[in-house]
Amino acid sequence: MLQPITPDYYDYEWTAIESVSCSNDGGAVVVWEDGKKLKCHPLWLRENALGPGGIDPRSKENDLNIVDLNLGTRIAQAYLEDGALVVQFEPGGRQASFHPGWLRHVAEGEHQPFASLPEPQIWRATDLTEPPTHDGCSVLESDEALAEWLDDLLGYGLARLTGLPTNIQTVASVARRVGVLRETNFGATWHVSVDLNPNSTANTNAELPAHSDLPSRETPPGFQLLHCLENTVSGGDSTMTDGLAVAEHLQTKEPDVFKLLTLRKWTFSNRDEGEDHRWTGPVIDKGDGRVPWTFRAFHPVRGFPAMPYKEINDAYSALQYLGHVSNSDEFQIRYQLVPGDLIAFDNRRVLHGRTAFDSTSGIRKLQGTYLDSDEVYSRARVLRRRLADVDSQKSIHAARKDSNA
Ligand code: OGA
Ligand code: ZN
Repeated sequence: MLQPITPDYYDYEWTAIESVSCSNDGGAVVVWEDGKKLKCHPLWLRENALGPGGIDPRSKENDLNIVDLNLGTRIAQAYLEDGALVVQFEPGGRQASFHPGWLRHVAEGEHQPFASLPEPQIWRATDLTEPPTHDGCSVLESDEALAEWLDDLLGYGLARLTGLPTNIQTVASVARRVGVLRETNFGATWHVSVDLNPNSTANTNAELPAHSDLPSRETPPGFQLLHCLENTVSGGDSTMTDGLAVAEHLQTKEPDVFKLLTLRKWTFSNRDEGEDHRWTGPVIDKGDGRVPWTFRAFHPVRGFPAMPYKEINDAYSALQYLGHVSNSDEFQIRYQLVPGDLIAFDNRRVLHGRTAFDSTSGIRKLQGTYLDSDEVYSRARVLRRRLADVDSQKSIHAARKDSNA
């Protein structure tokens, strides 16, 4: 039989289904040889059937107008053809076939947003003494190198590149290997150096304790890239702390502090002559369970406690506790950026910072940019798919060579 079209761009393995039966409630239950099962709802199968009122083969998207769906649709018959599922819907008698590998990926939960992304590896300074490091020029040129760097970035929440050209465009070239830049009022890319009239504490020589950028936004940038162009000052060491490790520690050792950080809200504001950004949220924002946690921590833009007066004292004391832990030797790593280095990190998970520096001792110039998390997640998934396709082509090729030998 012709392989059924799937509503995506993946090349699924033909994991033949062993048996299928219709359920009393109009659905179909498929079972694979290893016992894995999937109960398919008739309405879900109907909208994923190829053709009008289902999957348009051109866009691979569903063109069903929900008001046209017959809610009484049932599966009248289900059988297997070469291990693929074929069903007949009632009323109407329309037939549709489904790729067994596509159904299997649903049975495995592989369709879920975080399924094919690396699991977070939570770290303390004792586990990870410096950022995982990759060769910058390879990442600019090769998809394999890009995929390996993104794997570390997603797993550890940070990954460094070395040996990149030290010009002002490099940070955008690297970011564009991943996706579309997230532009802010600081520009598509922005400088970090000592300004005479700074619009941010970052552009002074002051210490920046463990923080996250732009907590003043509804969705703070997911990832940040900082590329070092020049660094001859004394001081100005870079720091990183895994927010997830700090949260884990607080949750078990200081549950009251953890509660105050997750429940008490603050209003953050980021202002300039022509800007007035504000957002209110807790310092550890656990979201609603669908999205990774967001740490909102940057004292220069934390404007107001958004809580009753009587709760303010405890909230400040919890913040101070977080400050001690996230800047402590147990949790924070320190390293130096040298020209050509680029550090990328998850701005909502990993708290970054720098030590103060003596601005008369030399020059320190970084160029930075942001990427939304969606861009990083999408690129990582696509690379995984493409590189898996290349691997399977290679093994088909090798098998053919062997059989011809
Ligand atoms: C920033 C920042 C770090 C550094 O610009 O937000 O944290 O090393 N900079 O200067
Ligand atoms: Zn910062």
